[in-house]
Amino acid sequence: MSKFALLSGLLTVLASPSLTQGLVQLPNTYPNLTACLNQPSFFSCENTTVIENSCCSPTPGGLVLSTQFWDTYTGLEAQEQFLPKNSWTLHGLWPDNCDGSFNQYCDFSRQYDPAPSPAVLPNGTVIPPYNGTSVATFIAEFGRFDLLNFMNKYWINQGAPNDVFWAHEFSKHATCTSTFDDACYGPDYKQHQDLVDFYDAAIRAYKQYPTYDMLATFGIIPSNKTTYKLSQFQNALKSQTGAIPYLGCGNNGTVLEEVWYFQHVLGTEQFGHYKTLDSVTNSTCSSTEDIRYYERTPTSERDARLLP
Ligand SMILES: *[C@@H]1O[C@H](CO)[C@@H](O)[C@H](O)[C@H]1NC(C)=O
Ligand SMILES: *[C@@H]1O[C@H](CO)[C@@H](O)[C@H](O)[C@H]1NC(C)=O
Ligand SMILES: *[C@@H]1O[C@H](CO)[C@@H](O)[C@H](O)[C@H]1NC(C)=O
Ligand SMILES: *[C@@H]1O[C@H](CO)[C@@H](O)[C@H](O)[C@H]1NC(C)=O
Ligand SMILES: *[C@@H]1O[C@H](CO)[C@@H](O)[C@H](O)[C@H]1NC(C)=O
Ligand SMILES: *[C@@H]1O[C@H](CO)[C@@H](O)[C@H](O)[C@H]1NC(C)=O
Ligand SMILES: *[C@@H]1O[C@H](CO)[C@@H](O)[C@H](O)[C@H]1NC(C)=O
Repeated sequence: MSKFALLSGLLTVLASPSLTQGLVQLPNTYPNLTACLNQPSFFSCENTTVIENSCCSPTPGGLVLSTQFWDTYTGLEAQEQFLPKNSWTLHGLWPDNCDGSFNQYCDFSRQYDPAPSPAVLPNGTVIPPYNGTSVATFIAEFGRFDLLNFMNKYWINQGAPNDVFWAHEFSKHATCTSTFDDACYGPDYKQHQDLVDFYDAAIRAYKQYPTYDMLATFGIIPSNKTTYKLSQFQNALKSQTGAIPYLGCGNNGTVLEEVWYFQHVLGTEQFGHYKTLDSVTNSTCSSTEDIRYYERTPTSERDARLLP
């Protein structure tokens, strides 16, 4: 059966709710962690014994960054690519090494980024641009329309379609995260299982940090009139997460644009317990100047919570 026939058959079945139960068996995407049971449990980058099975804990990328953007427009509003009202958007889940350095594009056999950035690795190797099927198709092939729906609402690109951004995040970062290695899924590994699993994991980490709401709780809301100080953002977020995240600013440190939450994880990135840590990267926001946390262009956002 062709992929299209499979998909349209699935959609037909899903359209009749009474038949859905029982007839549709969606494939699982989780790894096989059986072998981790006889490994010690520890937070990544805090192990006192050598990690024997890199499927059980991310290594060497055990300093895990959950990152978000505050954009005011997408540039693709005409194609109905909008920002979610009252929410920062998901950027990614990155495997920094314990010292804050990082690896990128670690597996060219899982390279789905059409415009690799950087185009060339530090050692001079050119990263081959991808021109194949969209990663959105791979997610649909697993029947994960719920996942695609969430990604289309909260994992938003600027200046290019969302699926290109999702492909970039997987290829640049997940391929360097040991708990998403193909081998971790066992002999029955299904192609792109790791990709779906990574997107689920990135969203789970993102949901730990509702940045918009955390700031709003302290009266810090986007405004084109009021300005804030860096310490106001930091104090608010630290009071809820226990640590100071990295805050990124543009316009010479005066316009708030992004946040990176630093973490160690006990167990896997997929299912393990995260501990939030202070940023090891200095903020690019000015520590003295007034900082803008801009309101969005009204026509660039929509209330994702009201949508199906
Ligand atoms: C998981 O892997 C173990 C070997 O580590 C194997 O014995 C077991 O059958 C696998 N489980 C599944 C569900 O594939
Ligand atoms: C933790 O595990 C990593 C990866 O196996 C290893 O390089 C490192 O030496 C271990 N740390 C300690 C303190 O043993
Ligand atoms: C450059 O680094 C990549 C990824 O670590 C590696 O696969 C490749 O062999 C390296 N190339 C050279 C020329 O060292
Ligand atoms: C896509 O990439 C493949 C392999 O790199 C190449 O052979 C092919 O010409 C490319 N197609 C287009 C349309 O660029
Ligand atoms: C950027 O900010 C620094 C420190 O506030 C200031 O010294 C510098 O003049 C600014 N540069 C520009 C181009 O505004
Ligand atoms: C961060 O800022 C501190 C204090 O300004 C400075 O001592 C340190 O070198 C900076 N670290 C980096 C990585 O730039
Ligand atoms: C607020 O200012 C930003 C930056 O100039 C602009 O993009 C946005 O449209 C403005 N929003 C409102 C509601 O005026």
